[in-house]
Amino acid sequence: MVSFFRRNKSTVGLDIGSGAIKVAVVDHSGPQPELTHVGHVPLAADAIVEGEIMDPQLVADTVRTLLKDMGVEPKRVVTSVGGRDLIVKKIQMDRMKPEEAREVIRWEAEQYVPFDMENVQLDFQVLDPFGDGLQMDVLLVAAKRELIDQKVALLRDANVSPSVVDVDSFALHNAFEYNYPEAMQGTMALVNVGHEVSTVNVLQEGVPLLTRDIAFGSRHLREDLRRMHGLTAEQAEEVIQGRSDRQREFAGKLTEGSEELAVGIERAVAFLSMGNTAGRSTLGRVYLCGGGARIPGLAEAVADRLRTRTEVASPFERLQIRAGATALFPVEELAPMMMLPVGLALRSAA
Ligand SMILES: Nc1ncnc2c1ncn2[C@@H]1O[C@H](COP(=O)(O)OP(=O)(O)OP(=O)(O)O)[C@@H](O)[C@H]1O
Ligand SMILES: [Mg+2]
Repeated sequence: MVSFFRRNKSTVGLDIGSGAIKVAVVDHSGPQPELTHVGHVPLAADAIVEGEIMDPQLVADTVRTLLKDMGVEPKRVVTSVGGRDLIVKKIQMDRMKPEEAREVIRWEAEQYVPFDMENVQLDFQVLDPFGDGLQMDVLLVAAKRELIDQKVALLRDANVSPSVVDVDSFALHNAFEYNYPEAMQGTMALVNVGHEVSTVNVLQEGVPLLTRDIAFGSRHLREDLRRMHGLTAEQAEEVIQGRSDRQREFAGKLTEGSEELAVGIERAVAFLSMGNTAGRSTLGRVYLCGGGARIPGLAEAVADRLRTRTEVASPFERLQIRAGATALFPVEELAPMMMLPVGLALRSAA
């Protein structure tokens, strides 16, 4: 039924990664959020290196073109930041009203934030607003100001005005929670395997316990395949995506890389089994997402090393998809890559 009064309240989730730019649009005006657009475009090599935007003009142009090709208006855009110039930490402080906390958070934060406080952007959320203890739990987010400034300037160049700058790990959590509500029980790890970096998020009863970056991404495999086996970038990418006719030849190489990541995850979650005499990990399950999640053999390598059930996660597991929204999009293949942008778009920007 057509409603002339239905307000279009769409949120555009924009994920600017070092390997690809991803966009997902979710309409929040109906009873349930609904995906209306989805798209991605690979980013030229070295335009973003180690989180730093080396070629802002090129990145801005790529964002603008992608949105235009998708027919998406650059309004209500939510994007995010992450990496080592940002920290998220659960702290405790004297219980007070949020307005008062806002006044003193800078002084509280000083002891936890390893950056120059002069150039830090802070935000926080009281985790137990209805608690009655003398202390309250607060989730503190601190980002180097230049990290935010750089992102906002880039978006301005792309004619995009962000309404919210979110945090990568929050967006991942958000998409994951929406699509896998059952995973909010027990202890789970959500691993985003990107182009340059992978991130492990450990959740306990749905609450983030730890976030850690591992210096592994599909790019490392691509570089190895190029350097050591003389493949072109395209050939290497075919192997990584599992559609090369020389797949068997390089299976060992992929397994090696996957094991490197598995060891990284194992180290990140080792604290979970500390004090556990049986020496067994209490990790219930591992979910993989990001463009690298489907590297052939990766899920098996992680499952074997951690001895934990491991599956590739999709942001479309439960999310409603509008008819035709994915007509031109190979959902099956690219779903894991869209976890973060969907998490951003699920935020109903005011
Ligand atoms: N079908 C596919 N099409 C394109 N890329 C794919 C595909 N399958 C796997 N990939 C890999 O996924 C990578 C991009 O993944 P993703 O978008 O998660 O990374 P990113 O967010 O750009 O990187 P980072 O988070 O490290 O900055 C590509 O570089 C490519 O190697
Ligand atoms: Mg990424």
